[in-house]
Order: sequence, then C-alpha cells, then structure tokens
Amino acid sequence: MASSFHFSLLIFTLLSLSPALAKSSFHPHALLLPLKKDPFTLLYITQLNQRTPLVSENLALDLGGQFLWVDCEKGYSSTTYRAARCGSAKCSLAGAETCVDCFSTSRPGCSKNTCELFPENTVISAATNGDLGSDVVLIQSTDGVNPGRVVSLHHFLFVCAPTFKKIFAICLGASGVVFFGPGPYHFLPFGQDVSTGLIYTPLILNPISTATAYSKPTASSDYFIGVTSIQINQITVPNINTSLLTIDHEGNGGTKISTVTPYTVLQTSIYNAVLNFFQNHLSGVPTVAAVVPFGLCFNSTNIIPSTRVGPDVPPIDLVLQNATVFWRIFGANSMVQVSDEALCLGFVDGGMHPKTSIVIGGYQIEDNLLQFDLGASRLGFSSSLLFRETTCSNFNFTSNA
Ligand SMILES: *[C@@H]1O[C@H](CO)[C@@H](O)[C@H](O)[C@H]1NC(C)=O
Ligand SMILES: *[C@@H]1O[C@H](CO)[C@@H](O)[C@H](O)[C@H]1NC(C)=O
Ligand SMILES: *[C@@H]1O[C@H](CO)[C@@H](O)[C@H](O)[C@H]1NC(C)=O
Ligand SMILES: *[C@@H]1O[C@H](CO)[C@@H](O)[C@H](O)[C@H]1NC(C)=O
Repeated sequence: MASSFHFSLLIFTLLSLSPALAKSSFHPHALLLPLKKDPFTLLYITQLNQRTPLVSENLALDLGGQFLWVDCEKGYSSTTYRAARCGSAKCSLAGAETCVDCFSTSRPGCSKNTCELFPENTVISAATNGDLGSDVVLIQSTDGVNPGRVVSLHHFLFVCAPTFKKIFAICLGASGVVFFGPGPYHFLPFGQDVSTGLIYTPLILNPISTATAYSKPTASSDYFIGVTSIQINQITVPNINTSLLTIDHEGNGGTKISTVTPYTVLQTSIYNAVLNFFQNHLSGVPTVAAVVPFGLCFNSTNIIPSTRVGPDVPPIDLVLQNATVFWRIFGANSMVQVSDEALCLGFVDGGMHPKTSIVIGGYQIEDNLLQFDLGASRLGFSSSLLFRETTCSNFNFTSNA
C-alpha cells in the first residue's frame, strides 16, 4: 500500500455510491472511512483503496467540492478503469455535458470520446478540468460500533452522482471518522451512541455556487446553515449587521461549514464585533500581543486551562432558527494555545467583502459530531463531545468482520 505522504489531491465529497452498491448482494447499514489530520496542511486526510491492482490513495476531505477528483497524471494504472463514453448514462448522471478527445496515447485522464467535468480544487482554490471515469474501490461497512466487512464497489464514479447515502456524519480531531449512513455512531470509552441527542437546524441551499469554476450559475454544493445572531456568555453581540447573515440574490453572505478552512473566518465587521465583545467579557484577563492569524490573545497564565471543555472562557453561541437552538462553542473549540503564554481566540478576519460572511472552520468543528441529512435538509450537531467524555478519536477501529 502506498503510504508516502505525497498525496495526489483527491477532492472528495459525498461518495457516488448508487449504481455500484445496488449491484452488491451485501447491503451494509452504513460505510466508514478513518480520518487523520495532517499537521502540515491542517487538512483532514482519509485513504481509499482503489484500482486493480489495488492501491491506497490519500485524499482530502472537502465538504464543498462537488466531485471526487483523482489526479490521474501521477501514474494512474488500473485494469478496471473505465472512461465514461460521451453521451452515456454515466455522463448524464454526472451532469457532464462537455465531450473531449485525447490527442496522445489513451490513458486514464486522457481518453477518446469521453465526457469532462470541471471540478474545483477547493484546497488550492483553483479550477481544473477532468474526464469522468469509474473504477473499483474498497470501503469498509459499519454497524456503527466497529468496522465490518469490506464492500467492493465495482464502478465507482469519480464524480458526484446522485447520492445513495443521503446521510453522512463527520467527526474531526487529531484522528477522526466519517460515516456514510445513519447512526448509531458509538464512541469509546463508554460506547455511547452520539447520534442521539443531536440538535438540528435546517441546511440552507445557496442558489449560487461559491466555487469559481462555473461559467453559469449553479447551486452551491457547500453546506450553509442559518446563523441569526451570535451570543457570548448568553448575551447577544451588538452591532452585527444581520443582512450579512443572510444569503442575497447573488449568493453573497450567510454561514457555511468548511472542513478545509482551519479556523472560522468572519467578515471584518462581524469579526470586530465578536472580538470586542469577547474581550469585554474577559476584561479581568490581560491581553498579550496578538499572534497571526489571530487578532486577540490573552495571557494564558490567567485563564484556567482545562475545564472538561477546554480553557475557562465565555462560551460563544451561534444562534440558529430560534433562540432555543444554538451551536455552543466552548474554550476547547474557541481558544488556540499559540505559545506558553498566549491563548488566542481562534477566529480569523475574512476582510470586508468575503463571498460568505461566516465560514465555520475545522478547529471549531473538532470533537463535535456533525450529521448532514441531505434527504431531510438538516444538520444535526452534538456540540462538544468532551461534555460526553469522549472525542472524535475514540471510534473503535478494531474490525469485527
Ligand atoms: C449591512 O450589510 C449590507 C450587505 O453587505 C450592506 O449593504 C449594508 O450597507 C450594511 N449596513 C450597515 C449599516 O453597515
Ligand atoms: C503573563 O502573566 C504572568 C503572571 O501574571 C507574567 O509573569 C507574565 O509576564 C505575563 N506574560 C506576558 C507575555 O505578558
Ligand atoms: C425552535 O426550533 C425548534 C426546532 O426547529 C423547535 O422544535 C422549537 O419549537 C422552536 N422553539 C420556539 C420557541 O420557536
Ligand atoms: C473494540 O471492538 C472490538 C471488537 O468488537 C472489541 O473486542 C474490543 O473490546 C473493543 N475495544 C474496546 C476498548 O471496547
């Protein structure tokens, strides 16, 4: 198995499991992939076993990218690779309308009479084009307690076709896990099912894509939620321009969730309002010089470092569809220890005119379970699992197959 960290950038979203899984006789309850955080890029990396003969490929998890993108330039060799023929059902399933030819020797990524897509590599913010193809992948099933049998998907499309599993859940941390399918999702040490007791909020469709690769407007594949206000210590942060919190007719504004953004990014006026209010609520604690990319840092020797949910600082609530529904961010997810003495508020200034006003990033999501239910258009979130005395690294990866 290839294990060098030279990962070809595979942009990975919802798996297009539908046609492949339908043909298998074993019907798994749910599927699962282990995740690891890469300390250098801060991306969440998983591995997928693919091709014939089988190789293990590292891929980056990206909730916003639309397609699974495989870099076929890096010696893709597989006897089971099939290019999608132009005008075939596979191409229409993927919405790939453009036909292309290859003017050199055919290989995966350069085939005659195939259809083409324009995935955006959201990791490097660049657009590229790619052929649609399919190949064998192996993925573990799960009963929600342990990994189970490995399921082989014979014609796994490298693009996002209509999703069979409309529910998936991510749990990010130093290591973590993504489940494709409904709960239970059990975590050690007590084996509790963290799919119970989730708080739900509607997932909002942004009518305009925030990706850059599109010449015509398409609906965004990012996941938006409706933050209506922000509270610190259960008091509303004043002076937040609420029109920034809604998505306008050009697709600007609103709040999305991004696993490829390391820290939550706030539009400048929201950022300043939150920083000022947070500082007021920690007025007894001396600040120290801010450390980039952060704008507010405290002398951590004056803060109790480790309550069950991290440093003892005022909780930050993202208030959602009504006052009783909020995503509470505790110290473990709000504060970043950047040196022995500096503990910084882990939010970043997104500038005056970002496309999206609030981008909830990886650090704020860690050790929270997020369940995306695309059928019901809702997000279920757990808030900090530290409260339940577990973490995202605590799935039991011992196979019971
Ligand atoms: C609030 O934000 C909207 C959208 O960016 C902007 O048009 C408006 O001028 C802002 N209002 C204030 C008072 O800053
Ligand atoms: C932080 O506080 C401690 C104890 O109050 C003090 O000794 C130290 O100099 C402070 N550090 C900074 C960077 O201000
Ligand atoms: C708030 O929203 C939740 C979920 O949508 C709902 O169950 C609850 O009744 C609402 N509460 C109020 C006070 O509107
Ligand atoms: C993990 O699962 C395996 C297989 O079911 C089981 O034997 C083992 O005891 C579990 N580990 C813990 C720490 O519960």
